[in-house]
Amino acid sequence: MTDPNGTIFFPPQASTVAADVDWLYYLIYYVCLAVFIGVVFGGGYFVWKYRNRPGAAEAVPISHNTTLEVAWSVIPLFILIVFFAYGYKGYLNLFVSPKDAIEIHVIGKKWSWSFEYANGKTVPSELRVPVHKPIKLIMNSQDVLHSFFVPAFRLKQDVIPNRYTVITFEATRTGTQTIFCTEYCGTQHSDMLAKVIVMEPAEYKAWFDKSDGPEPGVPMADQGKKLFSAYACVTCHSAAPGGATIAPALYHKFGTQEKLSDGQQVLVDENYIRESILKPTAKVVAGYQPVMPPFEGVLKDWQISALIEYIKSLK
Ligand code: CUA
Repeated sequence: MTDPNGTIFFPPQASTVAADVDWLYYLIYYVCLAVFIGVVFGGGYFVWKYRNRPGAAEAVPISHNTTLEVAWSVIPLFILIVFFAYGYKGYLNLFVSPKDAIEIHVIGKKWSWSFEYANGKTVPSELRVPVHKPIKLIMNSQDVLHSFFVPAFRLKQDVIPNRYTVITFEATRTGTQTIFCTEYCGTQHSDMLAKVIVMEPAEYKAWFDKSDGPEPGVPMADQGKKLFSAYACVTCHSAAPGGATIAPALYHKFGTQEKLSDGQQVLVDENYIRESILKPTAKVVAGYQPVMPPFEGVLKDWQISALIEYIKSLK
């Protein structure tokens, strides 16, 4: 029941609440299984035992039986109180954060996750946390309903626009786990994935203290390429030749003329790309829907420059 390597039903347990969640799940499962077997086999047995046979006595209807009625009310009541008590304990562990919890903001948007740390560090698609430390996630959506789900942590919470939701966990082993979105949020919902990387505290601290500016010595276009996949731009925009997608393909796009939905033409230059990243609905390309979320306030200036350099390099 508390197999740390996972079972056929569950991935490995990687947080402090995982064992409790699994234990409660199995408790409910086995109690329901016992009730199910009792009802089905008991019912079947009585059908067989009291079947109509020649010469059988007529059944006498019973209107009530106090002992039986009290028993079938009180016994389930106690079983449900046990379920509730364990469930409530688990609920408190997930939703009441210890005072010393490390706070990390989680932003969901179609169709990626990004994570903001206390020192201003903002990282797309990768949540890094130290092992054996309580973490409090403060979550918000920039567009529609999403849901933050880490199966290995038994952690799931809706992420809602215009409202913060909070969830707490403590990872019990280092390594990488997958974050899913479990609220249908549009065409690329199933690609709305991210990673949570659990690190040794010292390793985490070194990473946390490192600046998140551009990496010295790495060409801007290469850094742009990383951002392009980290911010999941690639889910909608093809960067390779061909590749029709739900947004304009970007191969060989720089320097060309683009036809807009209002009939105007625009030159694809640095200004146009910058505006299209920050305010995608300002100029919509003919034949496409205005579905891209704005990246204003999400990307830093050097990141926008890196993305522009990357798009320029696609030829
Ligand atoms: Cu976000 Cu599904």
